Amino acid sequence: MKNIYLLGATGSIGTQTIEIIEENPEELNLVAISGYNHLDKLIEIASRFSLQMIAVKNESDASVLKEVFPNVTIVEGDEGLVKLSTLNPDDENGILINALVGMVGLKPTIEAIKIDRNILLANKETLVVGGHLINELLEEHHVNLYPLDSEHNAIWQAINGEDKKTIKKLIITASGGAFRDKTREELKNVTLEDALNHPNWKMGNKITIDSATMMNKGFELIEAAYLFDIDIDKIQPIIHRESIIHSMVEFIDNSIIAQLSTHDMHLPISYALFYPKRKENLVEPLDFFKLSQLHFEPINYERYPLLKLAIECFKIGGSKRVALNAANEAAVSLFIKKKISFLQIETIVINTVLKHRIIPNPSLEEIIEIDKEIKAQIYKEYEK
Ligand SMILES: NC(=O)c1ccc[n+]([C@@H]2O[C@H](COP(=O)([O-])OP(=O)(O)OC[C@H]3O[C@@H](n4cnc5c(N)ncnc54)[C@H](OP(=O)(O)O)[C@@H]3O)[C@@H](O)[C@H]2O)c1
Repeated sequence: MKNIYLLGATGSIGTQTIEIIEENPEELNLVAISGYNHLDKLIEIASRFSLQMIAVKNESDASVLKEVFPNVTIVEGDEGLVKLSTLNPDDENGILINALVGMVGLKPTIEAIKIDRNILLANKETLVVGGHLINELLEEHHVNLYPLDSEHNAIWQAINGEDKKTIKKLIITASGGAFRDKTREELKNVTLEDALNHPNWKMGNKITIDSATMMNKGFELIEAAYLFDIDIDKIQPIIHRESIIHSMVEFIDNSIIAQLSTHDMHLPISYALFYPKRKENLVEPLDFFKLSQLHFEPINYERYPLLKLAIECFKIGGSKRVALNAANEAAVSLFIKKKISFLQIETIVINTVLKHRIIPNPSLEEIIEIDKEIKAQIYKEYEK
């Protein structure tokens, strides 16, 4: 039996993870969950399981939950997330699933690795801002960190059993997001509702906006560089509209292994949860005769300046990635609140990164401080 400590239970990945847990009660035991704004949903999930701990946003939510679940430990705020990720430190069957959105996921991941807990990671921002810290700790604690992101999960499946030295490049596919057929001129007038209308995937709001700006693909390149310890110049993003090939690995003999399936996150989540076992009939099978064609297009970096910027930030190193992520989180949240236009997301992120003075090899405390400062500055300027 695996004991699951789930951060971000109320979100898109969290909800799908819970469905898998409910379908496999003999193998998976949900121990603790967290939520943030969706308190009703959190209560509804908690009422279906026998939990030890629930983490909520703040004190007032905590007092509501204490009334409803008097026998469950209720914790709150960012520290509550850490208490959840490190609950029962001697639990050898414990797995932390990090399905939070944003860099708030970094500290609970770090603390879970420190108690030797294996991690299933959806929260890509953790690696974007703190990949250098995470990799050091993974090595020190001999802990596994498995990717839930469909592209990285596909690469993991394709690499399985291969000699790492024989990898020539990783090919990461991108649907192109909601605005893949719009010119930059047309982007001036797009709305929040347009941006949230992703052609292939139903996901949380932030990642859907990040897909429309292609910041998401930039983050995924950084994520892949850390996960697979590969030079970022050997990771090629390409547009693949159908989201059927989730990513590919090209080897030195020019053989390419790709992972294909219908686009459904239940597959990568289950693959990571049950690895090395595979589950039967998880998603709709692919019918090659119904797939008329698969399309591939090169990426135009001028069209997607945030993707280009993410690669540059990774190469420059130090705290540039932290500034990139902080500015993006703030700008996307302003766009979701309809305080800025779609193209202003890019302007805010680019200007912030240009201004940022690099701190080499930032510590966790420095990352948290930089993140806080940058977000505060941006909110002060635009949130009137
Ligand atoms: N969705 C996908 O298909 C997909 C695919 C690949 C990778 N990912 C990655 O997986 C992560 C989660 O994505 P998602 O689409 O599931 O996001 P989501 O639907 O927005 O869910 C995010 C979760 O985090 C919680 N949360 C938000 N802000 C928080 C904060 N400040 N403190 C504590 N908890 C907070 C939310 O709680 P409330 O809902 O209660 O507010 C929710 O449970 C992201 O990093 C994303 O890039 C997602």
